[in-house]
Amino acid sequence: MIELGSVEEGSSLIEELIELTSQSVCRLEIKEHFNIIKEIGRGKYGRVLLVTHRCKGTPMALKVLPKASTKLQCFLREYCISLLLSCHPCIVGLFGIAFQSNEHYGFAQELVVGRDLFAIIQPRVGISECAVKRCAVQISSALEFIHQRGLVHRDIKPENILLLDNHCQRVKLADFGLTQRHGTFIRYISGTLPYMAPELCAMVLEEGQTEVKAPPLSVQPSLDTWAFAVLLFCILTGFFPWERCDDSDDFYEEFADWRRVPDTTSVPSQWKRFTPMCMEMFKRMLVLDASERCSVWEVKGYVGKDWVRAKDINGWVGENGEVGTRTPSPCRSSHSGE
Ligand SMILES: Nc1ncnc2c1ncn2[C@@H]1O[C@H](COP(=O)(O)OP(=O)(O)O)[C@@H](O)[C@H]1O
Ligand SMILES: [Mg+2]
Repeated sequence: MIELGSVEEGSSLIEELIELTSQSVCRLEIKEHFNIIKEIGRGKYGRVLLVTHRCKGTPMALKVLPKASTKLQCFLREYCISLLLSCHPCIVGLFGIAFQSNEHYGFAQELVVGRDLFAIIQPRVGISECAVKRCAVQISSALEFIHQRGLVHRDIKPENILLLDNHCQRVKLADFGLTQRHGTFIRYISGTLPYMAPELCAMVLEEGQTEVKAPPLSVQPSLDTWAFAVLLFCILTGFFPWERCDDSDDFYEEFADWRRVPDTTSVPSQWKRFTPMCMEMFKRMLVLDASERCSVWEVKGYVGKDWVRAKDINGWVGENGEVGTRTPSPCRSSHSGE
């Protein structure tokens, strides 16, 4: 396994690996080399097939990306970054097989037999606090590994976290299709997800616009810190905290107001279910100013404490005795409706 060094070293290594891989992507027809058992997943960019290798019988998860909608360079980048990161125990493994057929680019991944994290979120309920904490520790360790190598995942959401069991004893981060180096500039994005930080939501190119008002955004690990916090909220509650981080979203506006003047504004109702220690963690992860957000590994320092308050008959009682009644949208897959 090649060890990535500093940001500069790491980036040139990725570029070199892309260059070398581009010369050796083999041509094959999927059905000639693999028995396709079934489709096990589908995302915004590709499909994942459960296959067995025709000669060896090895089960694998093939990620296939249609050539019609995927640039060769993007495929190579995703494959090479996935390969470099795949040695971490909480990141999906790779077999080192990259190929192209007439219609697809593809690569072979370790088959993760459980479902993804989204599949076990009980709508409007979430998953148990113990399972959330097990997941939090493992994802924080995977992200620390990624960030130390000068990269930012950029697509942290439950659908990209794969489970080896239903209780989150072992989980693996997947999908490096949007991963970029620290300091890469984003000029615009075309849509938002609830996991996106406010500085990223400001980069949306709305219909009819030709350019974004905000200056280009430098990709930083703080984007993953924000998304990780939103993910923790979702799996603890079964709800999104908001739909998008801009002033068109009442739930986000309420939260942002509270962050700006915490002493005079009361904690937004959907956050009242959390203990003061848990809110301390969320406050450090969800700082509006990206440069002041904490690092992902700081989450580990909070897992020894209670996160969710005991529930009384009316719901969660906040510090001032108010009861949380308003609720935003239940979590839905970002794949649905796209
Ligand atoms: N190695 C794997 N083993 C089992 N299921 C997987 C594996 N990789 C991905 N999946 C499933 O396939 C879905 C889509 O894969 P993903 O890599 O996220 O594609 P996209 O880039 O299109 O989002 C995931 O949400 C997950 O449910
Ligand atoms: Mg995905």
